[in-house]
Amino acid sequence: MRDARRPPPPLCRKLVRLGIVSSTNDVARQLAEAGWPEGTVVVAEEQTAGRGRFGRRWESPRGGLWFSILLKPELGAEDVARLPVVAGLAVARALRNSLGLSVELKWPNDVLIKGKKVCGILVESSFTGEQLAFLILGIGINANFDPDELPEPISSSSTSLRAELGRDVDLDALLFSVLHELSACYETLLSGRGEELLREAEGLMGLPRRARILSGGRELVGLAIGLADDGSLLLRTEDGHVEKAVWWEATIIELGS
Ligand code: BTN
Repeated sequence: MRDARRPPPPLCRKLVRLGIVSSTNDVARQLAEAGWPEGTVVVAEEQTAGRGRFGRRWESPRGGLWFSILLKPELGAEDVARLPVVAGLAVARALRNSLGLSVELKWPNDVLIKGKKVCGILVESSFTGEQLAFLILGIGINANFDPDELPEPISSSSTSLRAELGRDVDLDALLFSVLHELSACYETLLSGRGEELLREAEGLMGLPRRARILSGGRELVGLAIGLADDGSLLLRTEDGHVEKAVWWEATIIELGS
């Protein structure tokens, strides 16, 4: 249960709780199109067609925390571009502050524990002409199930909160903790201090470190040196020039030290 003494997080104006859905991102999109406000949160017990980045399937059994948040950000383009990284940071803070876990981030927004993925984030947008109409932030946290319930090869690269803590967690408390951290980060962006969040995220990503990435169909190898102002990953390649990888078309294949 959430702490009744704590006011609800600003990014939880409406909470829609569902049993089995195709994808919480789809439900949130329908609500956005029907005029529901920023801070509408859709949480489901199970997803039958959960999806991840690049159209990959996202396994969403019962016991996980699967939810989507509707945002209508009144932010400049740079701060909007920072949101995917910032969402990962908010989840990392919640897992550390509410459960005492030691977590890392893998750009742009995977949350890892001891190198294994515990949370994935899918950001989807909708435009009216050139204008951003809304964003859906879909967050999936492997919580109260064992990673070996997932099919291979996902199982071996994933972990869960149950596996890390040796017990189940209160999903409601975790949801509200993430929404509080996300609201705080959102406030930081709105107050023009988004760079602080990027520096914190770089720390959790362990940058600089060596990386192999796939960006727009090209494989690049080099030293990931930091994040650009818009949250892109800056990679200094072997020949010394700096490439900028953007979150919607790039993924890290391998990380070194
Ligand atoms: C990824 O790592 O590729 C992103 C995974 C995002 C999964 C979440 S679960 C809630 C929301 N609904 C979905 O269909 N996807 C996101």
